[in-house]
Amino acid sequence: MRHFVSDSAESYAVGVVDVARWEQYGLDGTLPFQAMWYTVPPNSSSPRDCHPEVELSVVIGGTASVEASGAITEVASGSCFLLSSEEAHVIHNRDQEVPLFIFTTYWMPLGGDGAAVVSEPAVAAEVAVPTEVAQ
Ligand code: NI
Repeated sequence: MRHFVSDSAESYAVGVVDVARWEQYGLDGTLPFQAMWYTVPPNSSSPRDCHPEVELSVVIGGTASVEASGAITEVASGSCFLLSSEEAHVIHNRDQEVPLFIFTTYWMPLGGDGAAVVSEPAVAAEVAVPTEVAQ
């Protein structure tokens, strides 16, 4: 087993975003995907990104406001978002205090039309939040 410790990963700045790519672990040729962690500081946004790879992200800390295909979707900690090949995206952290921390994997679409896989009707981001009744 390999253990990957985010705290001690080597990282570098892409705009305001701190990026720790998994290339540093020498896994090339062993996995069918690349991976990275990244942190978007409070009240800031990632640079616009667009690439042929499909991108699957898990929000680990904070809430991501994911801008893609003309919409902004709030993705809470523990939830995930999947971006199509060539789907431009900007990741906003609208919180004033909490950094947004994300784990992302990305890979070239597997045959077929990678874009079509993700461009089905968007899964509603609305989550029923139980309402606490005040005593
Ligand atoms: Ni990207």
